[in-house]
Amino acid sequence: MTTQEMHLCVIPGDGIGQEVIPAAVAVLQAVMPQVQLTFAEAGWETFQRTGNALPEATLAAARRAGVVLFGAVASPSHPVPGYRSPIVALRREMDVFANLRPSRRWPLHDVRQDIDLLIVRENTECLYVGRERLEGDMAIAERIISRRGSERVARVAFALAAQRKRHLTIVHKANILRVSDGLWRETCLAVAHEFPHVQTDEGLVDSVAYHLVRQPGRYDVLLTPNLYGDILSDLAAALAGGLGMAPSLSLGEGCAIAEPVHGAAPDIAGQGIANPLGAILSVALLLRHVWQRGDLADTIERAVEHVLARGWFTPDIASPAQKTVGTREMEQAVIAALGA
Ligand code: NAI
Ligand code: MG
Repeated sequence: MTTQEMHLCVIPGDGIGQEVIPAAVAVLQAVMPQVQLTFAEAGWETFQRTGNALPEATLAAARRAGVVLFGAVASPSHPVPGYRSPIVALRREMDVFANLRPSRRWPLHDVRQDIDLLIVRENTECLYVGRERLEGDMAIAERIISRRGSERVARVAFALAAQRKRHLTIVHKANILRVSDGLWRETCLAVAHEFPHVQTDEGLVDSVAYHLVRQPGRYDVLLTPNLYGDILSDLAAALAGGLGMAPSLSLGEGCAIAEPVHGAAPDIAGQGIANPLGAILSVALLLRHVWQRGDLADTIERAVEHVLARGWFTPDIASPAQKTVGTREMEQAVIAALGA
């Protein structure tokens, strides 16, 4: 993609999505003024106003741009007729099959200093295909693992591992789930042969969870099926500064969705205190992995490091006695530090 072709569809969504996404966009525009932005709406507010949580115009804008920056949506906890989660629908529509969730050390109190890893989570299969049914008093959920689905995410993970510390751990539970995780394990190990310079090992998901808490430094890239990756990546995020700091990027064939890991946070929405760093770091992932601008991604990550080292914290990452700043001040501090 040349610089002239960089289009981004921005979907702030609900709650703090509307606060953190403008901050991330401001940082992106500071490093890449030529990016072409289209703003689109989705979420609970949109549903209440229009009866559709993911309007056709939003889908069309996302398809046109191919690259989306998404905030968060608030999904009601009770079933609402006609409502379906727009982010789940959008991920499915764009077939973003590889979810990247890095966790690394930041100069924060109360976080692990020995963590720098990347979880690559299969994003379309496993129990999340939603094939559930009741048979009398028994609930049955189908778990889908396909060779094609496993292979395509494994290739992404190994290619990324080759650019990092060349160490990848295949996560599974094939000792119990011999058929489904067996196929996952076998397929990932076959892809490993294409990357002989990446040191490959494997771990049972429960054991990986244990070691992640005890000694996260032993891992670099963790390649996981959907459910295990969902759980392990929240664990890793908790070790590395919490939800407010956690970025993610979902990759498909020629398309991508960058989004902070957190949700709409109704408990703090509208107060101007949401941490925008997860969203800002998601933009850095987009620059590095989609637009091949690792240099600009490094610039943003260095600025974040600099700002934190100087003692700028939003309330979620501050210790009790520390002075805190709001979303907008954090955004401005990061922009000011881009040249640092
Ligand atoms: P949440 O991530 O919104 O909030 C969990 C806790 O973390 C809250 O106390 C919140 O204040 C805090 N937090 C999260 N992000 C923060 C940030 N950037 N800065 C400071 N504090 C932050 O998860 P929760 O409460 O489970 O869900 C709230 C709503 O968000 C629900 O409607 C849920 O469906 C939705 N949600 C949407 C997601 C998405 O759109 N991808 C993901 C997760 C939840
Ligand atoms: Mg989750």
